[in-house]
Amino acid sequence: PSILRDNEEGSESDIGEKNNQPDINWEELGFSLIPTDYMYAMKCAKGEKFSQGTLMPYGNIELSPSAGILNYGQGIFEGLKAYRTEHGRILLFRPEENALRMKIGADRLCMPSPSVEQFVDAVKQTVIANKRWVPPPGKGTLYLRPLLMGTGAALGVAPSPEYTFLIYCSPVGNYHKGGPLNLKVEDKFYRSISGSGGTGGIKSVTNYAPVYTSTTEAKANGFSDVLFLDSATGKNIEEATACNIFVVKENAIFTPAIDGAILPGITRKTIIDIAIDLGYKVMERSISVEEMMNADEVFCTGTAVVVTSVASVTYKETRAEYKTGPEMLSEKLRGILVGIQTGCLEDKKSWTVQV
Ligand code: COI
Repeated sequence: PSILRDNEEGSESDIGEKNNQPDINWEELGFSLIPTDYMYAMKCAKGEKFSQGTLMPYGNIELSPSAGILNYGQGIFEGLKAYRTEHGRILLFRPEENALRMKIGADRLCMPSPSVEQFVDAVKQTVIANKRWVPPPGKGTLYLRPLLMGTGAALGVAPSPEYTFLIYCSPVGNYHKGGPLNLKVEDKFYRSISGSGGTGGIKSVTNYAPVYTSTTEAKANGFSDVLFLDSATGKNIEEATACNIFVVKENAIFTPAIDGAILPGITRKTIIDIAIDLGYKVMERSISVEEMMNADEVFCTGTAVVVTSVASVTYKETRAEYKTGPEMLSEKLRGILVGIQTGCLEDKKSWTVQV
């Protein structure tokens, strides 16, 4: 039986690319859900392998009230984008990295995961079916959200008897409105436990809601986002709500090392590679709040935020301000990254995958 309800908007027999232009203003895209035509789903039982998925009209899903994802948070997600190039191609950026990261998260939460090939194929099918929702070049991207979750019913605290891999998508523009970020350092709550024993390093669904108290308060006080510290010492920076952090001092680049508590961002890894290729020294190590406050430049990276510069960081009563603008290193790195992603710059490392 399908987990999906019949959808008034269409049926599985309708599936095929719709050609008319969607009625949206591409100039006004932000990072909020715009439902598209189709989603992809594939199910498998505990102890088995995923084998065959299918596209279906985008719509609500039906879940048992005792599904593993609802009761015990057995679920992870990914985020990646499809880019329309000036020459009409559609590109994905390092999608196999998302597949590999999903597998690591799945192993940690005792779930089966799709193979890299199944993952990438499912992403491509989802993009093709929703092609009309990929924004024109320069106007935004189609954000894809793969989910892997325990959807079988169980009352006891144990791995779910059934799993669903699902991909839905939405056209998006900038994650943060209003330019460079003003970050608040959180000194009461932590995003994850320090070290390799926790789940901070996987995209567990349970890593995100615990930041809402901090972000809601910070936003009410005029900040754009919150930066979290390590739970072991409360002294070193880890990451912001939905992105990794970089610090620049005297032309050297620093970012917290991947230690099990920090999400191994694909944009993070790519920016490190681009910076090294440009001849910059990049160091992955612990960075104290104090060191960050004395930096020349600070920026964030992530699929959703791309590369976003930081204008200020506030820690307790102290506020540090940083230079921002087109001449800054973060802008140079962003330009190269986006150039490769959108097919404007040569992709020497075969990071892009054509749909
Ligand atoms: C992404 O950058 O794709 C993320 O996963 C961030 C998301 C929580 C908005």
